[in-house]
Amino acid sequence: MVHLLAPLNTLEAINQRRSVRSFCSKGISRETVRQLLAAAVRAPTAMHQEPWAFAVIQDRQLLKSISDRAKPLALAEMQRADCDAEVLSLFAHPNFNIFYNAGTLILICGQIANPMAVADCWLAAENLMLAACAMSLGSCVIGSASETLNTPPIKAELGIPDDMQVLAPIIVGVPDVAGKPSPRKEPRILCWK
Ligand SMILES: Cc1cc2nc3c(=O)[nH]c(=O)nc-3n(C[C@H](O)[C@H](O)[C@H](O)COP(=O)(O)O)c2cc1C
Repeated sequence: MVHLLAPLNTLEAINQRRSVRSFCSKGISRETVRQLLAAAVRAPTAMHQEPWAFAVIQDRQLLKSISDRAKPLALAEMQRADCDAEVLSLFAHPNFNIFYNAGTLILICGQIANPMAVADCWLAAENLMLAACAMSLGSCVIGSASETLNTPPIKAELGIPDDMQVLAPIIVGVPDVAGKPSPRKEPRILCWK
């Protein structure tokens, strides 16, 4: 267990979760990763199919190597999407690590042929991130790495079968600074009859 304080309850975790992009150098244990995966698979799953599987990467050299391969594709995508100049220059910087130097990357992979896999895997992703928050860990979805993670050479390198795709790449680690949750708009209610 990483957390020294009592774990947060569900609503506290929901309200305190934030994307963390700066981590302590100390990584998280295999036991902690297993606890996060156990929380992930408690998500609802259409027709009880559990169409997910997980790849865990804690090898820092491999993380850097994937980051180096992902950055050009992510940058090109951002240029197409007309992202602001500050973000583009961050991604173009040679020292920028797309995984923010986190020591753990968890890939939630789903069966390509299962039409509910996307929903199931993202529910699992939120479970995992809330569990991480409850355990005083930080997490962040790294969607900008998805295109690269789904290229055949990287899938082969990570043992991801051809019939699965990476849906939710999530970094996890011990946050190195305290931070606040980002603001949200009030829920837009279209109808309440
Ligand atoms: C599908 C998806 C993809 C995301 N991709 C990235 C990413 O590539 N890099 C990053 O720093 N944050 C990424 N994020 C995190 C969002 O930027 C973040 O959730 C949003 O700014 C709201 O902040 P919060 O999570 O702290 O509430 C992603 C989030 C989602 C849901």
